[in-house]
Amino acid sequence: MSLRSVLMGTGSALPRRAVPNSEMAQLVDTSDEWIVERTGIRNRYIAGEGETTSTLATEAARKALEAAGIDAADIDLIILATATPDQTFPATATLVQAALGCNGGIAFDVSAVCSGFLYALGVADSMLRTGMAKRALVIGAETFSRILDWDDRTTCVLFGDGAGAVVLEVQDSDAPDAPGILATRLHADGAHNCLLYVDGGPSTTGTVGKVRMKGREVFRHAVTNLADVLREVLDDTGLTAAQIDWVVPHQANARILDATARKLGLPPEKVVVTVDQHANTSAASVPLALDTAVRDGRIRKGQLVMLEAMGGGFTWGASLIRI
Ligand code: ACO
Repeated sequence: MSLRSVLMGTGSALPRRAVPNSEMAQLVDTSDEWIVERTGIRNRYIAGEGETTSTLATEAARKALEAAGIDAADIDLIILATATPDQTFPATATLVQAALGCNGGIAFDVSAVCSGFLYALGVADSMLRTGMAKRALVIGAETFSRILDWDDRTTCVLFGDGAGAVVLEVQDSDAPDAPGILATRLHADGAHNCLLYVDGGPSTTGTVGKVRMKGREVFRHAVTNLADVLREVLDDTGLTAAQIDWVVPHQANARILDATARKLGLPPEKVVVTVDQHANTSAASVPLALDTAVRDGRIRKGQLVMLEAMGGGFTWGASLIRI
């Protein structure tokens, strides 16, 4: 008997306030034209008073539980990916657990920035298949606006806030076309940690710090690393790019999405794009885009969906799921 982690439901949440490019142009020396041409971003959502990573994560988690038809009380594992926790500790996952009222199981955060959701999904899948838990909430949630340098036009126009969540349940999967996570590959290369980072932290400056990035170099690495990891996952499963129904990429930049799809020979119609509306929401971006395409009916039962992301560290990864 083999076991698979099956995707039971998805959910997402956005802050109340939408901020179009025109508003960014009032803050820094930029324009709607520059932002759209270089990134594809037209809008982002920015957290306001009372909105934190844990409140957005909890809302996304509630919606995912509702879509799955599963009670919070039946969740015995919560893994939350974030680079913007409510507090340095305790883990934001424990705040979500308390808000949902499902205390007693396992709850912790993972830190892999924009790849965080892929890392969380990989860890949850392993824990479910080795019997440590039966039903997991895997969440990506961020309030990146709170670590942006709002005077730096090269970074502040790129990011937004939000959260996405999925419910996974471990099930027997003897049929070859049974649903569930088919393969996941994760990587990190710490040699590049100076290309995308935050210039502070509890143990160095005693402050939270602000996002710093060498955008052009990140771009170059992103396209190569993502194309490579997608090929690895396809090789692991014996499937071809042509058999994939949807790719749900980390929404960093429309040009990275286009270039990666082209490298793999995937038509743009198969790529879920939300970067225009949400901007780069770091760990939240993949589950937010996934939930968007599930709820608007594009992603359906039985389909093959590839998730992929790359972020600071560098970290990167991909996961192939039969819905
Ligand atoms: N508005 C107007 N002009 C700007 C802005 C802005 N917001 N930001 C930078 N510029 C200017 C620069 O100052 C520069 O001017 P100069 O030529 O006079 O010096 C010019 O535009 C070109 O700057 P570049 O940084 O070379 O622009 P590039 O075409 O590389 O685009 C971008 C920048 C959008 C950041 C791109 O490099 C990129 O998308 N990189 C990927 C990084 C990324 O998406 N990171 C997200 C996190 S990591 C991840 O998720 C994969």
